[in-house]
Amino acid sequence: MRDNTVSVTAVLFALSVTACSTFGFRNPDTRWADYRSWTRITEGRPTIGDPTGYIGERHFGSDGYKEVYVNDIGEEVLTSDGPYRFPIGTVLVKEQFVDKNAWLEQNDPVITVSVKVSDVEGRSNWKWADSYTSVAKESVFCLGCHSHAYADDFVFTTERFLSVQ
Ligand code: HEC
Repeated sequence: MRDNTVSVTAVLFALSVTACSTFGFRNPDTRWADYRSWTRITEGRPTIGDPTGYIGERHFGSDGYKEVYVNDIGEEVLTSDGPYRFPIGTVLVKEQFVDKNAWLEQNDPVITVSVKVSDVEGRSNWKWADSYTSVAKESVFCLGCHSHAYADDFVFTTERFLSVQ
């Protein structure tokens, strides 16, 4: 009887794992799952409006309120005043709130993520995820716009950028 209980539990578990991967309910990537415990470089100074002139309709356009978090690996470079060349393993997470009220309430941010995966001169070397539970991959779409920040290793929200906003 006890054996049966164990195997029923095991089967249910296996089914739920299959269902999760089939229907897209994924766990977040462990490289950024706990990003809220990282350094928030935008602390007290969320990015608002369109300081770069490139935002268009992306990242909630110019009504959005944006916060950026960096993991330990990239923190020293991002919080310096440059030059910006990020170590492999750097992860940046951006939270986008639809407007000021959503930001004040910390309500339902959309997440985008960039992950530095290699360090070949002249290439982007980043992978991109378009949500908390997405897979980080090459993206012509993300890279296309982030290429405007080529001189800063494809990253817009650096300490230098924030300090002159
Ligand atoms: C149309 C231009 C555009 C596109 C497309 C775009 N971004 Fe951005 N992104 C920006 C700008 C501009 C910022 C700087 C802050 C701001 O103004 O919101 C930014 C900031 C970020 C940041 C914070 C770190 C940094 O570089 O400042 C992350 C992470 C990010 N974007 C990820 C993505 C991902 C992932 C995609 C694709 C799914 C994407 N972005 C597509 C323009 C774009």
